[in-house]
Amino acid sequence: MPDDNPASTTDGLPTPLGPVGHRSRTGAHPERVAAGVTMVTSERTDLRVAIIGGGVIGLSIAWTLAQDGYAVEIHDDQPGLGASYAAAGMLAPISEASYQEPELLALGLASLQAWPEFAARLTQASGVDVGLRAEGSLLVGFDTDDAVGLARTADMLAHHGLEQRMLSSREARTLEPALSPRARSALHVPGDPSVDNRWVMHALLVAAERAGVQFHRQRVGLVTVDGRSVGVRRVDVESNSTSAPVHEADLVILAAGAGSAQVPGLRDDARPPVRAVKGQSVRLGGAAGLLGRTVRATVHGERVYLVPRSNGELIVGATSEEVGEDLTVTAGAVHQLLRTAIEVVPEVAELELVETLARSRPGTPDNGPLIGSSPLPGLLVATGHFRGGILLAPATSDAIHRLVSDLPVPGVVEPFASQRFSGSGHDVTEAIA
Ligand code: GLY
Repeated sequence: MPDDNPASTTDGLPTPLGPVGHRSRTGAHPERVAAGVTMVTSERTDLRVAIIGGGVIGLSIAWTLAQDGYAVEIHDDQPGLGASYAAAGMLAPISEASYQEPELLALGLASLQAWPEFAARLTQASGVDVGLRAEGSLLVGFDTDDAVGLARTADMLAHHGLEQRMLSSREARTLEPALSPRARSALHVPGDPSVDNRWVMHALLVAAERAGVQFHRQRVGLVTVDGRSVGVRRVDVESNSTSAPVHEADLVILAAGAGSAQVPGLRDDARPPVRAVKGQSVRLGGAAGLLGRTVRATVHGERVYLVPRSNGELIVGATSEEVGEDLTVTAGAVHQLLRTAIEVVPEVAELELVETLARSRPGTPDNGPLIGSSPLPGLLVATGHFRGGILLAPATSDAIHRLVSDLPVPGVVEPFASQRFSGSGHDVTEAIA
């Protein structure tokens, strides 16, 4: 009988990204290459895959695998309504890059390059336009420290051969006339586009269903037998206990975002070091024509981004709070976001307040995602995408597809092996502290 609490065995530690532990497949054909992310197709198979989590990562993986003939189930009580629903949709590896994270920048750039084709295929499969906007970003500074910070970012971007240009206040206002005249410096990064995250999620739900993915609107725990994952089964939310029947699967993929470490039935050594990082944001209406591109700024130490949507909405975000799982929208956070946004673009004060929301991002000890095998045979991990789930969906779904299909994974994904923290002293509680 399946057992939710198996004896702890390691069954031989896999190599960082593999093996997956299922039977091998043949007949894969590399098809298209985009910045180290190669889309592949292969022969159809009856391999059963259960994915825990229906966010942008789980859905992208499900859609990708189902297109290739895998029998895929998604288990999520509210698919499409977690962190991906609250995302701003910035495809911004460049604007969000830091000196300390060159590997994350490389992964982000590879995934960014794969996005136009991913978006086109998604639109073709779903009939939904995902609102890809190519206008880039404007980073704005208000004091001398900000100007120094922007110059450093410009240097780093130049170091990576990435397009950028420092602008005077006047040049910035020519580009974005709604910008406050108090803005002192600006950096134009034309390579950071955005998508409408909600249209992306809608498109993925439609495309996955059309490709044959089965949706089970339930919370599940992992089921293991003899130290191997064999499927999932429903968790009763009230009592947090599991109940039959078991959805048997040859392979389970853990893509439960900020909740990944809490999935019942996970052996301790397979528990990913993911913590919830709360983000609150605001959706405003009536902003058609106000901004042409994403504007990011730091004002008196408060960071804010303003992302225009083609439907005339403007997303203002986001807080980053180390408070664990907490979805309360607070008056203070909304006040701070709006106050800062109004300092950057004064006309924001006139817009309609459409929605406030809070969600949990899946943070990791080094801000990078966890992609690959786990110490538990039959369990793959695709989680911990922190602030970059939407951006990293094409690269992650391609990497997981390759792992499932016994194909080599692009080099840019290798630093994000899900077991890189094993034995390093990092655990979830340490990450939260
Ligand atoms: N990616 C935007 C955010 O996490 O706020």
